[in-house]
Amino acid sequence: MQLPDNLNKEIENRIKNDSYRILSEKSYPVDFFSNDYLGYAKNSIISEKSVSLLNTFKIKTHGSTGSRLISGNHELFKILENKAKDLLNAEAALFFNSGYDANLGLLSAILKPKDVVFYDELCHASIRDGLQMSNARAYKFKHNDYKDLVTKIELQNQRLQPQNVYIISESVFSMDGDLSDIGELVTISKTFNAYLIVDEAHALGVCGKDFKGLSFEYNEDIFARIYTCGKALGSHGGFVLGSKTLKDYLINFSRPFIYTTGASPFHVAQVIAALDYFENEDKEKQELQKVISIFNDMVSSNQLQNKMSTNASAIQHISCSGNSNAKALAESLQRHGLGVKAILSPTVPKGKERIRLCLHNYNTKEQLQNLMSKAKKHIQ
Ligand SMILES: Cc1ncc(COP(=O)(O)O)c(C=O)c1O
Repeated sequence: MQLPDNLNKEIENRIKNDSYRILSEKSYPVDFFSNDYLGYAKNSIISEKSVSLLNTFKIKTHGSTGSRLISGNHELFKILENKAKDLLNAEAALFFNSGYDANLGLLSAILKPKDVVFYDELCHASIRDGLQMSNARAYKFKHNDYKDLVTKIELQNQRLQPQNVYIISESVFSMDGDLSDIGELVTISKTFNAYLIVDEAHALGVCGKDFKGLSFEYNEDIFARIYTCGKALGSHGGFVLGSKTLKDYLINFSRPFIYTTGASPFHVAQVIAALDYFENEDKEKQELQKVISIFNDMVSSNQLQNKMSTNASAIQHISCSGNSNAKALAESLQRHGLGVKAILSPTVPKGKERIRLCLHNYNTKEQLQNLMSKAKKHIQ
C-alpha cells in the first residue's frame, strides 16, 4: 500500500534538502562515530562475566516475559539497580529500556500543567519529547547562558506563579560535546527553589570525579540524574537516579516504564557486568583522556580551532555549513576508511551542520593524524 500524499511530500522534502536518512550497515576500519567511548561493547571480560552471571543464577529464559510490574521483574534487576545506585552515589536507581525511555519516562511522569520547566536549548530530543508528553509549560534558555536562564525564571515566576519549577540540562552536550556548569546550575536551582535534572549520557566514563559524570559530586542537590548504558558502558538501557520516593513515584506513574516489556535477563546481566568492570578498571578511561588531549593538541598545532572543536569530552566536531557540504566531507573521510557521521539539519539548526567525531580509548595517534590531514585539505 502506498504512503498517504502528505507523508510522501515529507519524504520528497527530505530528499530535496539533502537530509534523507537511510540505514547503513557499512563499517569502517577506523571508528570515529560510535558511542563506545571505552571499547566496552567489544570487551570480552564484560561478555564472559555476563554469561557467568546467567549461569550463577541458573537463568535459562531468553525474555523477561512481561512488564516489570507483572511477570518481567527477574532477580537481576535488583542487583543492577543496587549496583548503579551505589556506584553513582544515589539513594535509588530505576532502570529503563533505553536512555531515551528514561528521559521520556521521567519527564512525562513528574511534570504537571501548573509546573514550569526551563531547559537548555541544545537538550537532546529525548528530553524535548519528554517535555512534549507532559503538559508542563516549557521554556528553553540559550545554550549554557545562565544569565538568560535567570532572566527567564524571574519573568515566568512572576507571570505564571508555577507550582514547581524545574531546570534541565545535559552535563556533556550530545552534539557539541561542550560541558555545562553544574555548580552554577545547582546555585541557581537553590536560589529559585527549583528542581534540577541533569542528563549525564555522554559524561559517564569521560568526565567528572572518578569519571562518573559532572553532577556526581552534587548528587544531594540534584533532583534526578539520567545515565545511559548505550554510550561508555557499551550496552543498552538507562537509569534515573534520585531519591527512593522518586523511584517509587516512577514505578507508579511512568507510562514508558509500566507499559513495556522489561529488559531480558541477558541484557541486564550485560549491564551489570559493564558496571562491574567500570567500577574496577580505570585503564580505558585514562587512555581515553590521553586521546582527547592528543586530539585537542593536534587541532591547535594544525591551527584548525575555527573549524574544529577542542572539548574536554569525547565528542568533537568539524564545522561545515550546509547539508551538502557536510555530506561531501563525510563521504570523503569515509572513502579513506574513517568512520564519521555527518550531522545534518534538521537534527542541528541550519548553518550548524557538522561532522560529529567520537573519540575512543582505542583511537591511535596515527588515526588522529590521518583525520586531521584529510579534514584539513577540505576545510582550508
Ligand atoms: C543526551 C542524551 N540523552 C539521552 C540519550 C538517549 O540515550 P539512549 O541512546 O540510551 O536511548 C542520548 C542519545 O544519544 C543523548 O545523547
